[in-house]
Amino acid sequence: MSVRIFVPKDAAALALGADRVARALSREIETRGIDATIVRNGSRGLHWLEPMVEVETPDGRVAYGPVKASDVASLLDAGLATGGSHPLCLGKTEDLPFLKSQTRLTFARCGIVDPLSLADYRAHDGLKGLEKALTMAPADVVAQVTESGLRGRGGAGFPTGIKWKTVLDTVDERKYIVCNADEGDSGTFADRMIMEGDPFVVIEGMAIAGLATLATKGFVYIRSEYPHAITTMTKAVEIARATGVLGPSVLGSGRTFDIEIRTGAGAYVCGEETALLNSLEGKRGIVRAKPPLPAHKGLFNRPTVINNVISLASVPVIMDKGAVYYKDFGMGRSRGTIPIQIAGNVKHGGLYEAAFGLTLGQIVDEVGGGTASGRPVKAVQVGGPLGAYFPRALFDTPFDYEAFAARDGLIGHAGITVFDDSADMLKQARFAMEFCAIESCGKCTPCRIGSTRGVETADKIAQGIEPEKNKALLADLCNTMKFGSLCALGGFTPYPVTSAMNHFPDDFRPAPLVEAAE
Ligand SMILES: Cc1cc2nc3c(=O)[nH]c(=O)nc-3n(C[C@H](O)[C@H](O)[C@H](O)COP(=O)(O)O)c2cc1C
Ligand code: SF4
Repeated sequence: MSVRIFVPKDAAALALGADRVARALSREIETRGIDATIVRNGSRGLHWLEPMVEVETPDGRVAYGPVKASDVASLLDAGLATGGSHPLCLGKTEDLPFLKSQTRLTFARCGIVDPLSLADYRAHDGLKGLEKALTMAPADVVAQVTESGLRGRGGAGFPTGIKWKTVLDTVDERKYIVCNADEGDSGTFADRMIMEGDPFVVIEGMAIAGLATLATKGFVYIRSEYPHAITTMTKAVEIARATGVLGPSVLGSGRTFDIEIRTGAGAYVCGEETALLNSLEGKRGIVRAKPPLPAHKGLFNRPTVINNVISLASVPVIMDKGAVYYKDFGMGRSRGTIPIQIAGNVKHGGLYEAAFGLTLGQIVDEVGGGTASGRPVKAVQVGGPLGAYFPRALFDTPFDYEAFAARDGLIGHAGITVFDDSADMLKQARFAMEFCAIESCGKCTPCRIGSTRGVETADKIAQGIEPEKNKALLADLCNTMKFGSLCALGGFTPYPVTSAMNHFPDDFRPAPLVEAAE
């Protein structure tokens, strides 16, 4: 039987030369007459080892990485096709500590299956959740999702089941499921990785959401910066339609659900659910005032479930294995697992799915291995550009929505960005204000004007102009933005700013003035 060699087609691996590796491998295999098939899989999420090539052996998969095209000949000389030893050999994939210590529920198949093979998907428990949902009444599906404790992974952590129940209970002849794949947070990539590595799980999750709320049409709104995810999701939807997973009779049930892929145009605010709905309707991406909630009047004024990619991709395992199985993982009101995205100045960056409850210190020091530069960690920004900076003193904070909120932070989409001691936190605070000024949709004054004044005030502090007065002004401005903004772009920009000011006060002191005579 032909041996299967896996070379990721994930965007992170492609950026590091995976296509060149695949081409070199294909050429060498042909020249040497080796009976092997190259499978372009998703990433396993160990970014520092990409492109990570794997080969299937009777004992399981053996990994090699990071592999360059120029390594291919020597790898084949060393017996890559049978898991032979080589300086780049990492041993059995499943024994790699970064993978072994994870609890992969949502990402169970990512990197393992051929992303566009429905047969492979089925062989790895795919579609079991949808099959089960088809045997249940919509209200029972909603109850199972509610019982699991799943909360929205897009940022706000709102209980998914409660949102679905609102849509189910709102009577209308047409309802929609919208999958938010705008993934604008810096340092995050979980949505992209799952869309590229296991697209059918997103489709299955959306179909279950449709059955549960009586919606018959879904849209996936993907940012234009994700061309590979757009291609993979588009092909996966075509395959799902051609095989009856989607369409007028989902898996032969007589119930309808179909999906359309739409592309955003690169505005951070279009990740905000109401701006996203405007954008989907072909309007300018500007935030809508709430109420009405999208669950009552969303896309084209119809009841709409809008969920993050990971929220939807977590539903199939909940339906398949049960609410109790899922909620058994985690702590407090943060149930199940969370795909943490470790980025920035870190030795072992990548995707790490674990039950809620690991401390920030464990994630940064043990999983991430500290900084890539080898210098001490100074700060970690948790939750994207609107998340707070955590100093080492707060590294005992468990990854839990409430625990982070209690320390004036947020988990957001679970991206963490590591900074070493060369980071200047005043510059980071200024950057937060600048980001808000650039990305503001302009609808409300605290965000539109406040962010620009924030940049100016941070500049004055840096220049030593009335520093105490300007620090008080910056804090006051943050207070106005936090409580006066219409959405979380203006409302949460104060998190990085005030956390930088509170935890790193030394960076907000102007450098001593150098006397002209010196
Ligand atoms: C400025 C801004 C940007 C956002 N960007 C995203 C995003 O890229 N992806 C996402 O899923 N949610 C994003 N959100 C959160 C969404 O508004 C919304 O809460 C989410 O799509 C709901 O899905 P969930 O309940 O599954 O998390 C953003 C919110 C704000 C205020
Ligand atoms: S806070 Fe900013 S992005 Fe949000 S509605 Fe107001 S102006 Fe628009």
